[in-house]
Amino acid sequence: MSRRAWAEPWKIKMVEHLRMTTPEERRRAIAEAGYNPFLLPSRLVYIDLLTDSGTSAMSDVQWAGLMRGDEAYAGSENYYRLERAVREHYGYKHLIPTHQGRGAEHLLSQLCIREGQVVPGNMYFTTTKLHQELAGGKFVDVIVDEAHDPENEHPFKGNVDLAKMQKLIDDVGPERIAYLSLETNVNMAGGQPCSLENIRATCALCRAHGVPVFLDATRALENCYFIQQREPGYRDKTLSQILREICDQTDGCTFSAKKDALVNIGGFLAINDDTLATRARNLVVVYEGLHTYGGMAGRDMEALAIGIEESVSWAHQHARIGQVEYLGRKLLEAGVPIVRPIGSHGVFLNAAAFLPHVPRDQFPAQSLAAALYVDSGVRGMERGAVSAGRSKETSQSLYPELELVRLTIPRRVYTQAHMDVVIESVAELHRHRERVVGLQMTYEPEFLRFFQARFEPVTGDRVLRD
Ligand code: F0G
Repeated sequence: MSRRAWAEPWKIKMVEHLRMTTPEERRRAIAEAGYNPFLLPSRLVYIDLLTDSGTSAMSDVQWAGLMRGDEAYAGSENYYRLERAVREHYGYKHLIPTHQGRGAEHLLSQLCIREGQVVPGNMYFTTTKLHQELAGGKFVDVIVDEAHDPENEHPFKGNVDLAKMQKLIDDVGPERIAYLSLETNVNMAGGQPCSLENIRATCALCRAHGVPVFLDATRALENCYFIQQREPGYRDKTLSQILREICDQTDGCTFSAKKDALVNIGGFLAINDDTLATRARNLVVVYEGLHTYGGMAGRDMEALAIGIEESVSWAHQHARIGQVEYLGRKLLEAGVPIVRPIGSHGVFLNAAAFLPHVPRDQFPAQSLAAALYVDSGVRGMERGAVSAGRSKETSQSLYPELELVRLTIPRRVYTQAHMDVVIESVAELHRHRERVVGLQMTYEPEFLRFFQARFEPVTGDRVLRD
């Protein structure tokens, strides 16, 4: 433990006013939103912990960079700057920009998955898995069992289970495996990292069988911070060095720039293989834009290049993850069940344990997220059965072991006092948890249902009783 208190390595230059709402306004708003926080207008949200995606505060240097946007259709100066930043920090040879992460997932899936192939991954992510399925693939989970247990304190719950991966190779044969989709700092597990030892062993196993490995590097730097803190031998390495060690094991990555890289929009596919890069550059013009902008404005690419430089700072990650730890530790002290260890990008409430009186088919996490909004205007996100959707084969609803509400912390946006408001509200709801009522789904969209599904309380008209 360090002897002195620490604080963020920045100060606030500009503020954005928040609107306070009354409980009555919030009750009305959540009912109109079909009890789905995604359908709330943000002006009715006080503290917005829906996502850390695209919600970061950019630095003055990034804002200044916007003015240097070279808005040329082809060969923008900012593209070359971004290419240099990606090569230096991520190390991949070819950069194919996209409008955001799922654009890169779409390209990779279309390029590398053949009908009937399987795509193993260390837990699913919603958009990633959907693009794999739309390309004819089948996702197979190969994460360690500990990841599915919210109480388990394993320091690297994002690790691939090598025995599961080996068994898959033996069972289906390496030629039926499109690639391993390896996510750093696994979002759906609660922001849990992989160790470099595991990444190395996993990639060696895949290499030995000719199975490519593509990284989802969306929160790779947060993973690097955990490696630096927790894994023997990395204390004196920079985050940038650790990042290169991870990326160098793999064949390429998809990347949502809206998280680690501190910008509001953007993403890319980065790969080493020349032939695959040529195919990707051909496909990107169909769906995203020319291969030197891929859906981003020149100024977006400039802000992203600067954001990458800022995101490799240890002091930045220490403060970012430190704030998440502050929230998590206080909730643990208040006896609130959360996923442990505390993750990097948010605190995940264990809704199944929080609301034992709400059965799984009444969506405890969705109910808890709606009730939290009514209580204090704090917006979180369901990460449980609604997010998991239905089985591609049987169309039955999937019930993953983790039924969570994610309180996701935007980077450089909220203060510790905001965290205290969240803590009070969650702790109060937990003390009076019997007030929370389960939900039934009244509208289910075909794809990624959590974004637009609608619900109503199973009894009466209130998700949070008085
Ligand atoms: N991969 C991971 C691990 C993600 O968390 C996300 C997005 C994506 C890919 C897709 O990127 O949104 O830029 O298209 N996660 C957001 C979230 C939506 O709230 O967790 P995108």
